Amino acid sequence: MKRIMVTGAVGQIGSELTLALRERYGNENVVACGRKTEPSKKLRDSGPFEWADCTQPDKLHAVVKKYNIDTIYHLAAILSAVAEAKPQLAWDVNINGLYNVLELARENNCAVFTPSSIGAFGPGTPLDNTPQDTIQRPNTMYGVTKVSGELLCDYYHKRFGVDARGVRYPGIISNETLPGGGTTDYAVAIYYGAIKEKKYTCYLKQGTYLDMMYMPDAIKAAMDLMEADPDKLVHRNAFNVTAMSFAPEHIYDEIKKRIPEFAMDYEVDPVRQAIAESWPNKMDDTAAKQEWGWEPSFNLARMTDDMLKVLGDKYSRGEL
Ligand code: SER
Repeated sequence: MKRIMVTGAVGQIGSELTLALRERYGNENVVACGRKTEPSKKLRDSGPFEWADCTQPDKLHAVVKKYNIDTIYHLAAILSAVAEAKPQLAWDVNINGLYNVLELARENNCAVFTPSSIGAFGPGTPLDNTPQDTIQRPNTMYGVTKVSGELLCDYYHKRFGVDARGVRYPGIISNETLPGGGTTDYAVAIYYGAIKEKKYTCYLKQGTYLDMMYMPDAIKAAMDLMEADPDKLVHRNAFNVTAMSFAPEHIYDEIKKRIPEFAMDYEVDPVRQAIAESWPNKMDDTAAKQEWGWEPSFNLARMTDDMLKVLGDKYSRGEL
């Protein structure tokens, strides 16, 4: 049985991935690690929880030893808009934190999952059907840390045999934890706006296409890749994965079909607009499909049905 540690377990992906891992591998076998934010009751009560910051290797080491960890899902990271505001912090968490985790994995023979992102691409990248292997010259601190992270994971695999694997996530949409400081977050906030106020002000322009994915598919991607037969993996890290590509007006149209009075206007944030324009419109995820059978389940329509139902129910219970 796997013994798993999740860093960033209280974050956007971690909060839900940890619960899914507990369901598959047993509650007591999945240790959630947080840095500052209090975990939800569900997260805290369903299995072990430790305070451990990925920039403090001693603490991580103690958790690995205490629980006899053999697999690390390393999700602790600073997202794109915050990284632009605090580049030094982003470097420290996204690079030094990853280095600490990879070293720990090398010393203790652990497998590692690390998410990269559409942010690892830049203005020189072909933005339509972005190939798996292509130009990566990001011009954001987030992107710089993500490309470096991809390379570092490949290096640890090649040089030290660490079983490091990862995907390039697109924008992730969920109805549980609110994201913190991403560029793609409008696609989460718009659903909250639709349910709570029947209106939303979008900070990206019409026509800004980005890859996106509903959380259940993001969780499936991480778990499927970590279960994949290593002999079939040509790439190990940084697989392009996507589920849908849309611009703000398309998600608006889908919501309006279901909530006719929904209204949206635009107030463009130049920082996030510039970041979004440097990222792919749509990635080609053929390598993930071929090497480990990646297949998403949710398109925009299905995701919108589910998001509005779940958030609508929460709103009626007074939970939003
Ligand atoms: N969702 C992330 C962000 O917008 C991209 O990986 O920062």
